[in-house]
Amino acid sequence: MKHFVQITDFSVEEIQATLKLTEELKTHRLKTPKILDQESWGLLFYKSSTRTRVSFEVGVQELGANAIVLNSQSTQIGRGETIKDTAKVLSRYLHGLVIRAYDHSVVTEFAEHATMPIVNGLTDFNHPCQILTDIYSILERYSPKEVNLQALEGKKVVFLGDTASNMANSWILAAAYLNFELILAGPDGFEPKHSVLKALKDSNLTARHSFTNDAMAATENADVLYTDVWVSMGDENEAEARKATMKNYQVNEALLKNAHKDALFLHCLPAHLNEEVTQGVIEGAHSIVYDQAENRLHTQKAVMAQLKALR
Ligand code: CP
Ligand code: NVA
Repeated sequence: MKHFVQITDFSVEEIQATLKLTEELKTHRLKTPKILDQESWGLLFYKSSTRTRVSFEVGVQELGANAIVLNSQSTQIGRGETIKDTAKVLSRYLHGLVIRAYDHSVVTEFAEHATMPIVNGLTDFNHPCQILTDIYSILERYSPKEVNLQALEGKKVVFLGDTASNMANSWILAAAYLNFELILAGPDGFEPKHSVLKALKDSNLTARHSFTNDAMAATENADVLYTDVWVSMGDENEAEARKATMKNYQVNEALLKNAHKDALFLHCLPAHLNEEVTQGVIEGAHSIVYDQAENRLHTQKAVMAQLKALR
């Protein structure tokens, strides 16, 4: 059974095919083929969500399936039913399940026991649907006629702020897998964690990232600037300390000016204005954050279609 728990679960060829299908589904949105006709897909949330929740629910419906949104607390999971039993039982009703969880092992345990495809809708470790969308959103700017992974070659991506976060991990895996340069610019103590280095090793990938404290040096002539909130879901008790330590990594006008003149700014959203990014940058000409948010819908439809084809 094929799952989508981290980007490397799809081969590079499957990623290229998914991006191509994304392009087709985006171009002909109102003529979406009913690829999941008569199916039922579950969306299970242990954490808050706006984009993931709505884009998946709309995407499932546009593909002809029925979407069932579940909250962990209102199911028997909240009263201690095991993941193993839940995965086995839900597999008897559903044709696929998207899960947003705190601990990554929740999603991997579902994947181990489910007999339907499991899609990771974000864990503390990574966010594969988001990184796939991010790659697509960059590529549609670089090669608008036909989205092609080769357009990433030689590009310099800089991730600023919480360089030990789920989104930073997603970029680390993507850089090693899809072969582009990634610089992580963040404070001491936020170097990539053992878990992502182990994931690289387990996937036989050579790291393509470097880590620095120097945001200005990192962003010089950069093609892509990326940031995420400084306080991720689950990190709230460290909020004040994180804001203090990450303040030098705000994506602002000075950093953007230091980047390539055509640099793109991306953010997975939600954003905290004038913390990790200034209002001027996020609403400015280099920002593609709203296209990026829209593209969640199109890429995830393509992911579900691919998982069905590979089922
Ligand atoms: N980017 C993202 O996953 O947004 P939500 O938390 O709103 O789903
Ligand atoms: N790093 C953020 C991403 C939100 C989409 C979080 O986990 O809260």
